[in-house]
Amino acid sequence: MENAKKRNGFASGLGFILAAAGSAIGLGNLWSFPYKTSANGGAAFVLLYVISVIVIGSVVMIAEIYIGKRSQGNPVTAYKNIKKGLGWLGLFAVIIPLFILCYYSILGGYTVKFTLNSFNKNSEILSSFTGNIPEVIMYTAIFMILALTVVMAGVKNGIEKVSKILMPALFIILVAIAVYSLCLGEGVAEGLDYYLNPDFSALGFKGVLAAMGQAFFSLSLGMGIMVSYGSYTGKEVNVGKSVLMICIFDTLVALLAGLAIFPALYHYQAVSGESLSDHGLLLLFSSLPLVFDNLGAIGQIVSFLFFGMVVIAALTSVISLLEVVTQFIIQKFRVNRKKSICIVATFCFLVSVPVSISLGFSINGKDMMTLCGQNWLDFFDMVTNTVLMPLCAFGSCVALGWFIGKPKKKSDIFNPRFLHLALEEDGLSVGFLGSVFAVMVKYITPLLILLVEIFGVVDIIFPENAAGIRVFDLNGLGIVLTAYALLLVAIVVYFVFFVNKETGYNSDEHNLLKEKESTAD
Ligand code: PHE
Repeated sequence: MENAKKRNGFASGLGFILAAAGSAIGLGNLWSFPYKTSANGGAAFVLLYVISVIVIGSVVMIAEIYIGKRSQGNPVTAYKNIKKGLGWLGLFAVIIPLFILCYYSILGGYTVKFTLNSFNKNSEILSSFTGNIPEVIMYTAIFMILALTVVMAGVKNGIEKVSKILMPALFIILVAIAVYSLCLGEGVAEGLDYYLNPDFSALGFKGVLAAMGQAFFSLSLGMGIMVSYGSYTGKEVNVGKSVLMICIFDTLVALLAGLAIFPALYHYQAVSGESLSDHGLLLLFSSLPLVFDNLGAIGQIVSFLFFGMVVIAALTSVISLLEVVTQFIIQKFRVNRKKSICIVATFCFLVSVPVSISLGFSINGKDMMTLCGQNWLDFFDMVTNTVLMPLCAFGSCVALGWFIGKPKKKSDIFNPRFLHLALEEDGLSVGFLGSVFAVMVKYITPLLILLVEIFGVVDIIFPENAAGIRVFDLNGLGIVLTAYALLLVAIVVYFVFFVNKETGYNSDEHNLLKEKESTAD
């Protein structure tokens, strides 16, 4: 305990697991997993997803948490500690959350609005709310302030405490709604069939890529979060076991979300004869509200609980995004936590304003404010999720798999057994799976991630047209080039400004406080 206090980190292993799970469990679980599953062959997709979590997700997560843990500092310091020339990966990992924050918090604002409006017919508000830009901005601000307050209180007193309360609450609410939904009677069987009936023919290569991409996003990999949270852990945390728990919790919540959503959706469709959109923003903010509104008074309570749960999920994710950037600013620029978080949150809030304006136009059918042909939200989303995150996760595997341990002879470099022993010596033990992990992190996982990256990029530059033929899209090229330009900026800034300078450690925050106290005396 004393140690954790000094270290400025999580007070307990459980606190760390719940905080990391809080980051992982977000809109990706409650909303995109269910609709991707139904669109890609039901249980067949679930199987692929679980395999992706095992072969890609868990490996990258172990790598990232350990990279943070061994350095006890922000991502730039963490990658730099492996090899000086790799520090830019850390800067890259700090930039990505900054971009995600600018749109994720708007969706967070939406969930707050829908929670509070649960007793007032949510099914009718999507287009008027989205069109009412000042209101969207206000709710985004409310959501941002909630997240900011938690991060301001620090890792142990803010993030850990809140996660310990909110994550169990989320789980209980989700189970309750799933049980309720499964008991609705008419339509439930059809909903389950639609969600889970295994159809291997619907899977295809696209399904495989979708499963791998979803595993990344859902586990919050490739954006510094696990590095940052990992850095706040000490000896008491066993990386392998923690990752197992986080992955199980995350997958369970994703599966349960589908059980909560589809039976209820199909029940409504069976009763009303009306067919509803079951994917994208419309599933969450249009179809489900209609379902809830038609379940009478109980429906309103279910709606309140459901959207409240989505607020929790989004909030704990945004908290983790904010922490990555805040940690870096505190340590690199020696600014206290309060100031750092205010700078980060204000910046993201200001950028979220044009994003919400663009989204308002787009949802109401007027595409008037776009970047490379997309509304700003989709643009940011593609730049970060499809192009940048896999690259960053690839970097994590390569950093751990190829740069830790000094080989005595050349053949050691390619020898997984050598890596296994080098990692153990360094402090990372994954028990009897050591050599398997070494082969995965060195060869297989990075290769699979490259596939996700390449096909993701091809899909943006050569999207399928209505006839199913791939055609070149200049806008798509623009999106990909913007993303790679950002990568270049991170590399240049790192080598110009950071490579030979101190980039700070977690202990600096503690020292900063002490300095302040002594000057105040
Ligand atoms: N993992 C979160 C989810 O499943 C998404 C997320 C992405 C969280 C990026 C933080 C950062 O929704």
